[in-house]
Amino acid sequence: MTKPIPKGLNERAINGSDVERIKDQSNYLRGTLVESFANPLTGSISADDHQLIKFHGTYEQDDRDRRNERLARKLEPAYEFMIRARIPGGNVTAEQWLALDTISDLYGNHTFRLTTRQTVQFHGIVKFKLKQTIQAMDKALLDSIAGCGDVNRNVMCSPDPALSSINAQVYPWATKISEHLMPKSRAYHEIWLDEPQGRTLVAGGEAEEIEPLYGKHYLPRKFKIGIAIPPHNESDVHMNDIGLIAIAKNDQLLGFNVAVGGGLGMTFGREDTYARLATDIGFCTPEQVLDVVYHTVAIQRDFGNRQDRKLSRFKYTIDKYGLEWFKQELAARCGFELQALHPYTFTTTGDRFGWAETTDKRWHLGLRLEHGRIQDTEKTSIKSALAQIAREKLCAFRMTANQNVFLTEVKKNNKARIVNILKEHGYESDASHLSGLRRNSIACVALNTCPQAMAEAERYLPNLITKLEPILDKYGLLQDNIKIRMTGCPNGCGRSVMAEIGFIGKSPGRYNLYLGGGFNGQRLNKLYRENLDEAAILTTLEPILADYANQRETGETFGDFILRKGLLDQAA
Ligand code: HEM
Ligand code: SF4
Repeated sequence: MTKPIPKGLNERAINGSDVERIKDQSNYLRGTLVESFANPLTGSISADDHQLIKFHGTYEQDDRDRRNERLARKLEPAYEFMIRARIPGGNVTAEQWLALDTISDLYGNHTFRLTTRQTVQFHGIVKFKLKQTIQAMDKALLDSIAGCGDVNRNVMCSPDPALSSINAQVYPWATKISEHLMPKSRAYHEIWLDEPQGRTLVAGGEAEEIEPLYGKHYLPRKFKIGIAIPPHNESDVHMNDIGLIAIAKNDQLLGFNVAVGGGLGMTFGREDTYARLATDIGFCTPEQVLDVVYHTVAIQRDFGNRQDRKLSRFKYTIDKYGLEWFKQELAARCGFELQALHPYTFTTTGDRFGWAETTDKRWHLGLRLEHGRIQDTEKTSIKSALAQIAREKLCAFRMTANQNVFLTEVKKNNKARIVNILKEHGYESDASHLSGLRRNSIACVALNTCPQAMAEAERYLPNLITKLEPILDKYGLLQDNIKIRMTGCPNGCGRSVMAEIGFIGKSPGRYNLYLGGGFNGQRLNKLYRENLDEAAILTTLEPILADYANQRETGETFGDFILRKGLLDQAA
């Protein structure tokens, strides 16, 4: 099924960015990580290891809230590590959830976070506790391999078992694809799990044997794959490098429409960078899908830009060489052509909240969380509640692409117990008491941990929504589903560029405002106004919301209204 790397192609492209050199010299992701983590003199690691450790699912960060204070005391920054698990489709057992909860208390900052790619991140782990963290994850049969780095990342899948009769047939493909595209280097097992040394690089090029797909230079940049089951598009499947849209007939999975070239990140001041939605190019059967994803990744490995990391995502490769070229290259490598696309329609993104029953007579609770942060506060203690639910083994857990969670596989007679536990901890089990805007909000982490953040997101968006809610109420829009998203920089982790109302941080307290994304995840928004502070955000949005309330057509979504009214013609 897998073919070796064509000789020369991968080698030819090297010499570009410094990250390429680091990968080249890393001996399959080992670098000097062992030495860096043994050095007791600093909470940091070497510059090269800082890049390499991403492939092990970890970012080195520092607590940005404490930078000035540490500087004044002539101390090094408060270095800490974020670690991201690999959880295809976001599915964990009750035991695994409990392990995640314990890890956050023992080694992290007593919180953890459900991400927009259906996985879990821990923050605030100091260098000397990272190994213990990874070992604790391993004990719970979880790993962080390829959580970050220039490889295929966590594979996503529509999580709601109640929404589709073919969910159970589609779901295993997330794991199969993730495992098929995992790096094969044993570096992770040696460094963190103390397994005996595996094969390392010796002169003479054993790349094909040790890392058959990736070679020693891995991919030019990260690579993302997601699966959606129409008519629901919870994960905005077209934001991925490869989007797979499940096609079924008479409750049987026929295969997948394949979409390629999505990616949301862009860089301010670089006109040649842009967000792009994946383009549907053809259909493959379930038996063909592993070949399709494998060879697509291999094409990006061989033709992606390795000189400029700002232009190295697969979307730029697709736009440089063209879709027709890509289809031919893929067919040549796979030994078959994609078939004609099957028709499908997406009607929604976002999650279904509350209880629903599935065909196996079990129940599922869609639980809305505040931007995925699992923590106890003065008002509510959702972390303790979910830990208690897991301790009593009342359900399994599925993270969603919108930073929420589904409590799945619940027996009918356990429903009341779950509701009670949530209530005892100050948490409502459905989200109907929240505004439609809040129910449909996403914010990336941003400050205080993300080194890229130029403005707040997770810590600010809930407050901004609190200020927008009286305006919504005034115009009778409080229950309307409107997608609002905020990121602290243009990298796109919170998918702001797909929101009906999107904010991208410019500087502390200031945001660019984007409007007009599609509610179904199939249209990007456009820049409407730049550099707004909170007062300007509120005064800009109020008249538009008022017009929407008064002039919308039946069933017209906010994003569609913006477009029909031509508001984006007067943009920025
Ligand atoms: C140049 C591009 C990007 C860079 C450098 C970047 C970097 C980062 C960093 C440093 C974090 C950790 C923040 C923290 O936990 O403190 C993060 C989080 C995350 N990123 Fe990105 N990112 C980029 C683009 C994207 C894109 C386009 C997506 C997907 C649409 C994405 C998905 C995520 C997710 C799911 C998280 C987890 C946190 C969350 O759910 O908010 N990233 N990213
Ligand atoms: S969008 Fe920017 S600020 Fe937000 S988590 Fe991603 S990199 Fe950090």
